[in-house]
Amino acid sequence: MTILVTGGAGYIGSHTCVELLNEGYEVVVADNYYNSVPAVLDRVEKITGKTLKRYNCDIRDRNGLKKIFSENTIDAVIHFAGLKAVGESTRLPLMYYENNISGSVVLFEEMAQAGCKKIVFSSSATVYGNNPIPYKEDMVTGDVSSPYGRTKHFIEQILGDVYKSDNEWSISLLRYFNPIGAHESGLIGEDPNGIPNNLMPYISRVAIGKLPQLTVFGGDYDTKDGTCIRDYIHVVDLAKAHLCAVAKILGTTGIEAYNIGNGKGYSVLDIITAFEKASGKKLNYIIGDRREGDLPAFYADASKANTQLDWHAQYDIDKMCEDTWNFQTKNPDGIK
Ligand code: NAD
Ligand code: UFG
Repeated sequence: MTILVTGGAGYIGSHTCVELLNEGYEVVVADNYYNSVPAVLDRVEKITGKTLKRYNCDIRDRNGLKKIFSENTIDAVIHFAGLKAVGESTRLPLMYYENNISGSVVLFEEMAQAGCKKIVFSSSATVYGNNPIPYKEDMVTGDVSSPYGRTKHFIEQILGDVYKSDNEWSISLLRYFNPIGAHESGLIGEDPNGIPNNLMPYISRVAIGKLPQLTVFGGDYDTKDGTCIRDYIHVVDLAKAHLCAVAKILGTTGIEAYNIGNGKGYSVLDIITAFEKASGKKLNYIIGDRREGDLPAFYADASKANTQLDWHAQYDIDKMCEDTWNFQTKNPDGIK
């Protein structure tokens, strides 16, 4: 079985490529390296002892996709390629709509042309907006606070329409909660360009001395310690969820959404404490103002993925912090 992984050189994509190769799949990666480097794929090959096929291809490039589908028999697509910085998306909404939505439409058209109608799509918990917690898949979605989040909601809707128009499609929408951690080899992990927006890479850069101080965004929320609650999930657990989803779509048709989270909420201060324990370092932080757009608390009801995909998260926040720190210390200047 051959899987096309768009955005396969990125953070979640690279960990998923490792799991796919370990499981015996053939892997073809399409990435334009906008937010990654080809060396990541060398490391995927080093970890697994297997090779994958790679194309420097933008998913908006129809001819590039045609070449991939004509040179390979693709059984299913895992679609990670996209821009993901929430704050940037409010400044540059058209760039997000063009890359994420136009790119996805071109990809879906070329899949249909090639007769490949099986896809796992990287969605996000952000589609739930202000729903009560825990989030469940049958809640109304779309009350989203950023253009980034809207691209996820729109692409889910587009795939819904695609399925309605052609019931041969088999579509899995994976709504990720907060992925952190790294492969335990320390060879691949999250390696954002510039100053990180997300909590975990920020913490690890403070711990290693690359950034002076973490600002905790808000200490006055109505939560157990005043800081925001999120559902953190180890990136390897998340990667494995894609294998479960691929197994499912290969044998069925239809469209289903699944929450991929631990089902547990941790505060920012919980994560700081766990990171200090894992790294043996005291973290320099202050409590600052709230960040605009942040919800006080959300976490998943992941029971649908547990029962219907037979997927279960294995790793706790201690392991997430240990693996993040291991990656950070082995790659103080990132992956070159
Ligand atoms: P990432 O930026 O590390 O990986 C995305 C990859 O896609 C990068 O390698 C980038 O170069 C590539 N890419 C971007 N636009 C492309 C294009 N037009 N053509 C080809 N390649 C392109 O991000 P990630 O954290 O691995 O996220 C993967 C997916 O999961 C994204 O769609 C993201 O929105 C979604 N997601 C991520 C999170 C998270 O917190 N990391 C949460 C929810 C959903
Ligand atoms: N935080 C800080 N300081 C920082 C960075 C983050 O205190 O420097 C806090 C945030 O306020 C939040 C928590 O750490 O309470 C997690 O923040 P992240 O930025 O790591 O993650 P978010 O929950 O904001 O974002 C995630 C995904 C997005 C998705 C969003 C909404 O990264 O893709 O959830 O579902 F859109």
